[in-house]
Amino acid sequence: MPTIVEKRVLTPITKLFRVEAPLIARSARPGQFLIVRVREGGERIPLTIADYDAATGLVTIVVQEVGATTRRLGALEPGETILDMVGPLGNAIELAPGGHVVGVGGGFGSAALLCLMRALRRRGDHTTIVMGARRADLLLLVDELRAVCDHLELCTDDGSVGFKGFVTQRLQQLIDGDSPRRPDHVVAIGPMPMMRAVAETTRPTGIPTLVSMDPVMIDGTGMCGGCRITVGGEVKFACVDGPCFDAHRVDFDEAMRRTKMYVREQEAALQRLETEGICHAG
Ligand SMILES: Cc1cc2nc3c(=O)[nH]c(=O)nc-3n(C[C@H](O)[C@H](O)[C@H](O)COP(=O)(O)OP(=O)(O)OC[C@H]3O[C@@H](n4cnc5c(N)ncnc54)[C@H](O)[C@@H]3O)c2cc1C
Ligand code: FES
Repeated sequence: MPTIVEKRVLTPITKLFRVEAPLIARSARPGQFLIVRVREGGERIPLTIADYDAATGLVTIVVQEVGATTRRLGALEPGETILDMVGPLGNAIELAPGGHVVGVGGGFGSAALLCLMRALRRRGDHTTIVMGARRADLLLLVDELRAVCDHLELCTDDGSVGFKGFVTQRLQQLIDGDSPRRPDHVVAIGPMPMMRAVAETTRPTGIPTLVSMDPVMIDGTGMCGGCRITVGGEVKFACVDGPCFDAHRVDFDEAMRRTKMYVREQEAALQRLETEGICHAG
C-alpha cells in the first residue's frame, strides 16, 4: 500500500501529499491521473498526478476536500497508507515542441502544471503559468511553480497580489500583447467554468488550447461510461480518450450538467461522514 511520506496544508481545504509509489513514479507523464481508494468498500476517486520523481519513487497529489472521500484522504497523516492507487491512467499531454506554452491553472489544477511546465521548459519551450485564485492566500505552490517556468503570472479577484482580475483577462492581455509573449499553445487545468472561459478567450484567435476534463469517473478504464463527454460531436470517455481535449470542441454545457448528476448521493455521503466526526483536518 502506498505510504504517505509528506503532507502539507496548502489552504484549509487543500492538502498536498507525497506518496511512495515507485512504479507509478517511473512511468508517469504530465497530464495523467490516478484512481485512489482510501478504505475498503470506499468509492474510487480520480486525482491528477501533480508531480513525480522516478529517482525517489515519490508521487505528488494535491487534494481539494469537496466531499466525503476527499475529506477522508485529507485527514490522513504521514506514515499512514492509502488503500490503493491505480495509475498512471489516461493520456499524457502532447504538444508540438518549440513554442510559447501558457499553462492556465486554478484550484488543484494549478498543481498539475508542475510536472507539465517543467518537462516543456526542459525540452526548450518558452513557458508561462497564469494562475488565479480569489485571494492571495488561496494561491497554491507559488514558489514551486515559479521554479518550473519562465514567467509566473499571479491573478487574484480582489487584487491582493499580482494582476487584479480573472486568469482569462490576463490571458487576453498576453494574446493582445507583444509577439514573444503571445501563446502558441494554451493548456488550462482547473474548475470547469474556468476552462470553459479559457476556451472562449482563445477561440477567436484559433490558438490551440487543451483542457483537462474532470467529469465524474468510476472505474477509470473506459468500462462504465460515467465519464462520457462530447467532443466535436463525438462521444468520448475522459478516462481513456483524455483527460485532455481540444477546448474548442468540448461540449461544456453537457459536461457541466453531468457533474451535477449525483448531487443527492454526494450530500448523503457527506452527512454520513459528518456523523463519524471527520472534518477538514489540518
Ligand atoms: C481526471 C480527473 C482528475 C482530477 N484531479 C483532481 C486532483 O488532482 N485533485 C482534486 O482535489 N480533485 C481532482 N479531481 C476531482 C475529484 O476526483 C473529485 O473532487 C472527487 O472525486 C470528489 O469525491 P468526494 O467523495 O470527496 O466528493 P463527492 O461528494 O463525490 O463530490 C463533491 C463534488 O465533486 C464533484 N465530483 C464528484 N465525483 C467526481 C469525480 N469522480 N470526478 C470529478 N468530480 C467529481 C461533484 O460534482 C461534486 O460537486 C479530478 C477529477 C478527474 C476526473
Ligand atoms: S470512468 Fe468509467 S468509462 Fe471512464
